[in-house]
Amino acid sequence: MPQFTIHDFLKKKKDGKKITMLTAYDYPFARILDESGIDAILVGDSLGMVVQGLENTLPVTMDEMIYHTKMVARAAKNSMIIGDMPFMSYQTSIEDAKRNAGRFLKEGGAAAVKLEGGREVLEHIKAMTRSDIPVMAHIGLTPQSIHRMGGYKVQGKTAEAAKKLLEEAHAVEDAGAFSLLLEAVPMNLAKQITEELSIPTIGIGAGPHCDGQVLVLHDVIGLFERFVPKFVKQYANLKKDIAIAVKNYKDDVEKGIFPSDSESFK
Ligand code: KIV
Repeated sequence: MPQFTIHDFLKKKKDGKKITMLTAYDYPFARILDESGIDAILVGDSLGMVVQGLENTLPVTMDEMIYHTKMVARAAKNSMIIGDMPFMSYQTSIEDAKRNAGRFLKEGGAAAVKLEGGREVLEHIKAMTRSDIPVMAHIGLTPQSIHRMGGYKVQGKTAEAAKKLLEEAHAVEDAGAFSLLLEAVPMNLAKQITEELSIPTIGIGAGPHCDGQVLVLHDVIGLFERFVPKFVKQYANLKKDIAIAVKNYKDDVEKGIFPSDSESFK
């Protein structure tokens, strides 16, 4: 199977087929996603919260993102890899945006990048796209703006806020984004945006009408328990399973059951 590309993103939208996307941050999980046929893997800055144990995503650095992107890219033979630009890796200037986005492709092995924001990042998107760096835009709830937004809240609920998001969706498409991630927006607004844009929309907490869906892997498999957003569906509880395995190992060692003859050399 050839590796998924931005052209397949567009083709799936045209063909009315859903795009599947999950986050991953390391080799073993990326391998499972890749072998399971997930179209795209986002190396999200959510790694700050679900892997590093941070309060929010703001402290995550470019070097950390590149480190994780390399591990994921090494595992992915079929899925497309998208690197998530961390806080202050692009807000500072268009030059920084190009340089740091370029690092994801050059050092990390990603095929595209994602950045948060609407109107304020249009020139960044244009410059990156002109440099042959495919960009996924991200509007709605943008976790890097947590302090301005005052928490992880649904966006676009008033008529005025919805109009602004719709305008921003068109603006990022016009700026050259190959796709648009919509986070925590009412489903009817996501539907309207999806119908009006030619580029595919990828939803997280944006209802069923988007062209594709993304979730944070650790939410899906039950490895992050600090809070579970309403839009998450948990498909496994690995924390519970791992805790049982660890407890059984501990008991076996303490009782002298492990290692037995079969795990020992003669
Ligand atoms: O960092 C992240 O995981 C994200 C989510 C919206 C998928 O950006």
